[in-house]
Amino acid sequence: MSAPFSGHDPRLESAAVSDDSVQRVHARLLQEKPQPEPGGYAFAPLMLLGFMSGLILFCCIFLVHNRGGFDPLVYNGQIDPKASSNVSVELTVPEMIAKGQSAYAQTCIQCHGPAGLGQPGAFPPLAGSEWVNGSEERLIRVLLHGLKDQIAVKGEAFTSSNKMPAFSAAPYLWKDDKIAYALTYVRQAFGNTSGPVSVDKVKEIHAATADRKSEWTQAELPAQ
Ligand code: HEC
Repeated sequence: MSAPFSGHDPRLESAAVSDDSVQRVHARLLQEKPQPEPGGYAFAPLMLLGFMSGLILFCCIFLVHNRGGFDPLVYNGQIDPKASSNVSVELTVPEMIAKGQSAYAQTCIQCHGPAGLGQPGAFPPLAGSEWVNGSEERLIRVLLHGLKDQIAVKGEAFTSSNKMPAFSAAPYLWKDDKIAYALTYVRQAFGNTSGPVSVDKVKEIHAATADRKSEWTQAELPAQ
């Protein structure tokens, strides 16, 4: 009993392998499978594939160049793509306060505390402080360039060697708008009820004090 197809088709092995004529018929059937013509079929689909890829690439490049100011990360239905390049959007006061609050929680809080009470003898309070609630000019100068040496807050002298750091300088390098937000926040937090500090006001004072390189002392600043 020969089994010439063993290993080719298990169905043949389990079928009537003793009958040689059946096997021959099956063998013929197996051989009659259409053979792919080598090379002949590949040409047209390859052309098509190349053409479609080129088309997709062209469409992507076209879209990137003609998206009319659309940024997938920001949707703003009001924006005019032609006029939008250099316009900074003014925030409302509640938005300024929200941003100022998170800026405070990241930095100021380390020294001035979560309730703006500071630490006796070391860090002065912001709650009820005449520096915070007094003139915007003086307050902005303090944030931009810092403050050192003895100062008085609410009748108490702060003589410690701690300095108030300059926030417009390294390592902070805060932009004028962030300084305005932080000040707007502290002027209405901790029981304070003073008005907002505008970004334009910070820009104005920053331009006027641009060459200041060290912290202020109290004597150098306006009394109020
Ligand atoms: C590294 C500690 C530190 C950080 C951070 C800090 N300050 Fe101060 N701040 C001081 C010290 C110290 C003084 C007092 C400086 C002096 O005695 O000359 C001061 C003074 C002040 C004053 C004037 C005095 C007063 O109590 O009103 C204000 C206003 C002020 N800081 C606001 C802020 C704000 C707002 C932030 C965050 C943007 C901030 N500070 C971050 C340490 C800090």
